Amino acid sequence: MADKKAILKVDGIDEALELPVYEGTVGPDVVDVRSLTSKGLFTYDPGFMSTAATESKITYIDGAAGILLHRGYPIEQLAEKSDYLETCYLLIHGELPNAEQKATFVSTIKNHTMVHEQLSHFFNGFRRDAHPMAVMCGVVGALSAFYHDSLDIHDDHHRLVSAHRLIAKMPTLAAMVYKYSIGQPFMYPRNELSYSENFLHMMFNTPCDEKKISPILAKAMDRIFLLHADHEQNASTSTVRLAGSTGANPFACIASGIAALWGPAHGGANEAVLNMLAEIGDESNIDAFIAKAKDKDDPFRLMGFGHRVYKNFDPRAKVMKQTCDEVLSELGMLDDPLLKIAMKLEKIATEDEYFVKRGLYPNVDFYSGIILKAIGIPTEMFTVIFATGRTPGWIAHWNEMISSDYRIGRPRQLYTGHAKRDYPA
Ligand code: CMC
Repeated sequence: MADKKAILKVDGIDEALELPVYEGTVGPDVVDVRSLTSKGLFTYDPGFMSTAATESKITYIDGAAGILLHRGYPIEQLAEKSDYLETCYLLIHGELPNAEQKATFVSTIKNHTMVHEQLSHFFNGFRRDAHPMAVMCGVVGALSAFYHDSLDIHDDHHRLVSAHRLIAKMPTLAAMVYKYSIGQPFMYPRNELSYSENFLHMMFNTPCDEKKISPILAKAMDRIFLLHADHEQNASTSTVRLAGSTGANPFACIASGIAALWGPAHGGANEAVLNMLAEIGDESNIDAFIAKAKDKDDPFRLMGFGHRVYKNFDPRAKVMKQTCDEVLSELGMLDDPLLKIAMKLEKIATEDEYFVKRGLYPNVDFYSGIILKAIGIPTEMFTVIFATGRTPGWIAHWNEMISSDYRIGRPRQLYTGHAKRDYPA
């Protein structure tokens, strides 16, 4: 197992502690600290910056080099040669499908896109002005109340059926959330359409007006889903794993991932980008906002810039930028005032010493926000799109954990509160 070891000397413990060190295929070695509890020690790592919470074979990221691999395949190659559903298959099964496997997978997903009719009544319980992510947390969690026949997490087949259901139903639910918010009837999915065409159909068509979906916009949508499909042990994936480690059902686990994704430091950033652009309002205000972002006494940050792991560039952002250019020219929107502010901001920030020195480059959410806005998707729906795209990643990690020898996740702490004291007499 471990060819290397680390030696730890702790004041107050006589013997030096020998800790095994494991090597991954690529990436940093890890020090196995599990034996420390028996010596009365915990490790301390707020934010888990130095903690490998698990062994995984799904996704590899080298933040410094701007590398993102799914099952070994670079994200740029998947974005160019693959499509979203094939990437879902890859993440979940570990290998690319052959033609027959792909056709079967696509057909299986298509046959799971409708949601139980009773679920549509759930929506009436929500205010129409509710945030779409609030509704998504509720309706995705509620799936566990409908699909009792796939809830045995120790049955491989049940887990696969749940995976298919979640990947297939997320766009349907996402579009229902939107339609409910604008008071239009829900649109049923259509099997003759591709995954992304179908999503745009359910979002923008109505029973009295069914337009053909633009192939360029469907391709852009597919790419947005694909580029968000997985990102290693990020906050929402770790949340799904932690919830899953208790034995919770997959629908409940994915609902917990959706809740974690909602925050502005994670999936909420693409929405925050557009809100920020609206706040900037005019190109003449950009310099003042850049100054605010650099000011240590001001909490304002340039949304869509910087990343916890990518400190040089975000490989997804490169592909997304190309799609962004395609979409804006297809829609003839290169002169849109908000998008002009975005392009100017991107130029200034990528040349400004403050941002360059700190490795703060536009991340995937900067461009995805602009594309989604151009397609006509309202800002509040952006994180819902991210959640839809991320679903196969969440499922793949959950499934990998449940198929392995896992334990309930239970971090410890450095306690700095009162020691025992007596209740006043
Ligand atoms: N604007 C201005 N300054 C920034 C920004 C920003 N967007 N991001 C980081 N900094 C500064 C920060 O103040 C610090 O400066 P100093 O070294 O002088 O103290 C330095 O850069 C390092 O920042 P950090 O907070 O230590 O970096 P982090 O790795 O903890 O944070 C981040 C990563 C993504 C939370 C942060 O860059 C941020 O808040 N960005 C804006 C929100 C955003 O776009 N999030 C989407 C992330 S991508 C989607 C996803 O994967 O979920």
